[in-house]
Amino acid sequence: MKAAVLHNYGQDLKVQDVELQEPQKGEVRVKMKAAGICHSDQHVIDAHLPLPVPIVLGHEGAGVVDAVGEGVTGVQQGDHVALNWVPSCGKCHYCRIGRTDVCDEASKISMMATMLDGTTRFSVDGKNVHQFPSTGTFSEYTIVPENSAVPISKDVPFELAALVGCCVITGVGAVMNTAKVEPGSTVAVIGAGGVGFNVIQGAALAGAKQVIAIDMLDEKLEMTKQFGATHTINAKDGDSVGAVLSLTERLGVDYAFEVIGRPETIQNAYNMTKKTGMAVVVGISAPNESVSVNAFSLPNQAKTLAGSWLGQGNPHVDYPKLLDLNAAGKLELEALVSQTFTLDEVNEGLAALRAGKNIRGVIRF
Ligand code: APR
Ligand code: ZN
Ligand code: ZN
Repeated sequence: MKAAVLHNYGQDLKVQDVELQEPQKGEVRVKMKAAGICHSDQHVIDAHLPLPVPIVLGHEGAGVVDAVGEGVTGVQQGDHVALNWVPSCGKCHYCRIGRTDVCDEASKISMMATMLDGTTRFSVDGKNVHQFPSTGTFSEYTIVPENSAVPISKDVPFELAALVGCCVITGVGAVMNTAKVEPGSTVAVIGAGGVGFNVIQGAALAGAKQVIAIDMLDEKLEMTKQFGATHTINAKDGDSVGAVLSLTERLGVDYAFEVIGRPETIQNAYNMTKKTGMAVVVGISAPNESVSVNAFSLPNQAKTLAGSWLGQGNPHVDYPKLLDLNAAGKLELEALVSQTFTLDEVNEGLAALRAGKNIRGVIRF
């Protein structure tokens, strides 16, 4: 079978023949039908998220269960599933308190790029190839832990199911679960990408009265209005913190979301919140980076600087909910898919992501 492999940071992926093992105990083999191209994949190529190479990237994906390993009971051959890049062990402290989004076992493999047991299922010429943790969706088939294959209804188009697995749960979840945005709130979103668009539509759904989208590309800013942005700011015009203050009677916003993964924009998010406000970091910065905020302002202005991983969600609970919200017309998932590619065109899809051409580009198999 074919998969797209990153052999060296900074290079194109190579679409090539790759061997895939049989699913082991507690694992599921999935025939991929759709895979979204997310900036977290690009972060690996840029060595900003330095996962080991060679690696099969891709973590937003949906497909059909093709085979199951010993002991799998939750899904069977033929089921449609949306994948999840944060598997949960069910046994660690965080799983026991209901915070599967930060499962210790998932954290352990998040930089190893392997299955939960530390080994991988892909190889080329007998040599192991890593996979984006628990996924590896830029591939005709992949193997995931049972917990990472979330059953979805057969009516749901695979493209939408794929996006629910990263940009939708991450963006909408940051609003609903982490910030808990109340009706009438003011919100700013820095970074109008696949994830940022979902923060924007989540904020609109939560009843925010003002949703300010901030990006560097006018075309994308224009598109955010369809998803509920009430105002837009082009960060290239200069001081985006000042621009947010101007739009909010010099107060700042109740909630600011950083959806890029850069210390400067995280600081801006913090600085554009009002007293009592909350800045939520969604974007993934490189592991060695730090942010600096004024220490006095934290207590004196009663501010919160928070983080959100996988939208603080639980895929088994949230994917069906998010798909129901879409079916009820409360979320707009179809319009997120702005271009499709074949697996052979994966590098064009990544180039379009870097150029900011799409809300989401999706590979169709
Ligand atoms: N100021 C404003 N906007 C910026 C800046 C900046 N300095 N730098 C980049 N952007 C915009 C880009 O123009 C683009 O529209 O941020 C957006 C990022 O969008 P995508 O590339 O589609 O990224 P996405 O897949 O949404 O991921 C965003 O979330 O999950 C994490 O790892 C992911 O850190 C990444 C972030
Ligand atoms: Zn756990
Ligand atoms: Zn992603």
